[in-house]
Amino acid sequence: MHRRTQARIDLDAVRANFRLAARLAPRSQNIAVIKGNAYGHGMLAVADALDDLAPAYAVAILEEAVELREHGVSKPLLVLEGVHSGPALAEAIAQDLTLMLHSHDQLHLLLEAKRGTLPALWLKVDTGMHRLGLVPDALEPALDALRAADGLRVPPVVCTHLASADAPENRETQAQLEVFDAVTRNLGLPLSIANSAAILAWPESYADWNRPGYMLFGDSPLTEAVATASELRPAMHFEAELVAVREVAAGETVGYGGRWRAERPSTIGTVAAGYADGYPRHAPDGTPTRVGGEIAPLAGIVSMDMITVDLTDVPHAKPGDLVTLWGEGLPIATVAEHVGSTGYELLTRVSQRVPREYAATREIGLD
Ligand SMILES: Cc1ncc(COP(=O)(O)O)c(C=O)c1O
Repeated sequence: MHRRTQARIDLDAVRANFRLAARLAPRSQNIAVIKGNAYGHGMLAVADALDDLAPAYAVAILEEAVELREHGVSKPLLVLEGVHSGPALAEAIAQDLTLMLHSHDQLHLLLEAKRGTLPALWLKVDTGMHRLGLVPDALEPALDALRAADGLRVPPVVCTHLASADAPENRETQAQLEVFDAVTRNLGLPLSIANSAAILAWPESYADWNRPGYMLFGDSPLTEAVATASELRPAMHFEAELVAVREVAAGETVGYGGRWRAERPSTIGTVAAGYADGYPRHAPDGTPTRVGGEIAPLAGIVSMDMITVDLTDVPHAKPGDLVTLWGEGLPIATVAEHVGSTGYELLTRVSQRVPREYAATREIGLD
C-alpha cells in the first residue's frame, strides 16, 4: 500500500464498547447490530472480534447475513428488513437466518410457504415511528395465524424501534414504551426495544434483547452528554497523509470555485483524502482536522481525492505528516456537527478505497 489514507480500526475498542452495553443492562442480552459493513468498520472483522461476546448479530439485509454465513459465522443472524420475495425466503431458510416480520405482505409470504420450514422470527410492532412494523392491533392476529400454520418453530421475539431515543427530553419515547407495554404485556414472549441511544439513556426500555449498533463503534448518538457514554472508545481513526504544503498571499483563494480566501498570509496543506474516500463533500470551511495534536481547519471545497486545510497556526506541519480526519483527539461527533450530518453517515460512507487497518489498542498506541 503506497497511499497512506487509511481507517485504523481498534477492535479492542469495539469489544470494550460491547461490554459497556452489557454492563449497563445486565439482565438483557445484546444482539450486535453490524449492518452497513459494521457502520463502515468492516463487518467480517467486527463479527470475528465480537465472536466470544455477542450471542447474535443483526444486519439489515439478506446479503449481509449470507456473507456472514459464508465467512463461517454460525450464531443466530437477524435480518432487520426481513425478506420480500419467495426466493429470498427460501435463501433465508437455507441459511438458517432469523427474519424480521414487519408487514402483512411478509406475513402472507410466510403463510404461503410450506409448513414446518419457516425461519425463526422477530415481529416488529409500529409504536409510533411509522417506518416499519405491524400496527399494535395486528400483532396478536399475526401471532395466531402463524401458530395456526405451525409457523413458530421457536418463540418469536416481539420488538419495536424508537424514533427519538437520542433526545432524552423527548416525550415520544415514553409514549412508544407505553404502547409497546400495552400490546406485549400478556404475551409471554421475549421482547426487544433498545437501540444504542436507549441503552445509554432509557433504562426503562431494556428488555430480553437490546440492539446496540452505533455505540459499539465508540460514539454516543445522544443529543446531550450522559455519564453512561463517557466510557465509549472510538473505534475508527480515519487519517491521510499531508502531501503538499504551500504559502498563499492574503487575498488568494484556494480550491475549486475559490470558496476559501486567505485573510492573512497563510500556509495551506493538501491532504490525500476526498469525497471518493468518504470525506463529506459538503464539509464547510472550518471543519476541523488534526495535525500533530493541533487543529487545522478545512480551507476550500472538498475535492474527489484531496482536501485543503489551513496550517497557518500549525507551523511545524510538513509533507508526510499524518492528518486525522476523525478519531483520536477529534471526535466524529465534532466533525459531524460541522458538516450538518451524523457520525452514522460519516462512518458508513468511508469508501471501499480506504483500507481498513485492524489493530488492537496497544498496537496502535491508544491505551
Ligand atoms: C431495528 C434496529 N434496531 C437497532 C438498530 C441499531 O441502532 P443504533 O445504531 O442507533 O444502535 C437499528 C439501526 O438503525 C435498527 O434499524
